Amino acid sequence: MHEDVQKVLITREQIAERVAQMGAQIAADYQGEPLLVVSVLKGAAIFMADLVRAIDAPVEMDFMAVSSYGSSHESSGVVRVIKDLNGPVEGRHVLIAEDVLDSGLTLNYVVKMLRSRNPKSVEVAAFLVKEGAQRAPVECKYTGFACPDEFLVGYGLDYAERYRNLPYVGVLDPKVYLG
Ligand code: PRP
Repeated sequence: MHEDVQKVLITREQIAERVAQMGAQIAADYQGEPLLVVSVLKGAAIFMADLVRAIDAPVEMDFMAVSSYGSSHESSGVVRVIKDLNGPVEGRHVLIAEDVLDSGLTLNYVVKMLRSRNPKSVEVAAFLVKEGAQRAPVECKYTGFACPDEFLVGYGLDYAERYRNLPYVGVLDPKVYLG
């Protein structure tokens, strides 16, 4: 375990098992129809990479980047698109792969934006959903794990851009951010 991690919340093995289940469920639900999996950079890239490999169906990938104004670890609700998707979503089944649903402000905005482009459907697969943290409504069809509203790192989640590459999800030791 990394010295800055207080405790491991979800192990590498638990992640692999759950993501495989999610992929199988998604493949079953879309019944062979082509799917565009979209992720919001950067945190979701790790989950997306694992999830698409667990979906046995025709899948394409696209990426967007947004920035929320406000402090570095709290969403303000004002979302700015830094990088839009490369291709159109009109008439396509879109699945947004997100690493963590926290306040919900980012996803609420992204879902609305993509729905306005006339896709066939838009659904959300969130690897983590922080319990009791949502301030904006987001319908999340696929959830990896419910987790406590703590400072989590690993499997894409960062603190000051670090720890994304940890293969597990852990609680960051407060000494790291309290100094
Ligand atoms: C994180 C995460 C989600 C968002 C969730 O991204 O990847 O996109 O916050 O928070 P919310 O539900 O409160 O809106 P972040 O802005 O930290 O960027 P990153 O993916 O590059 O780490």
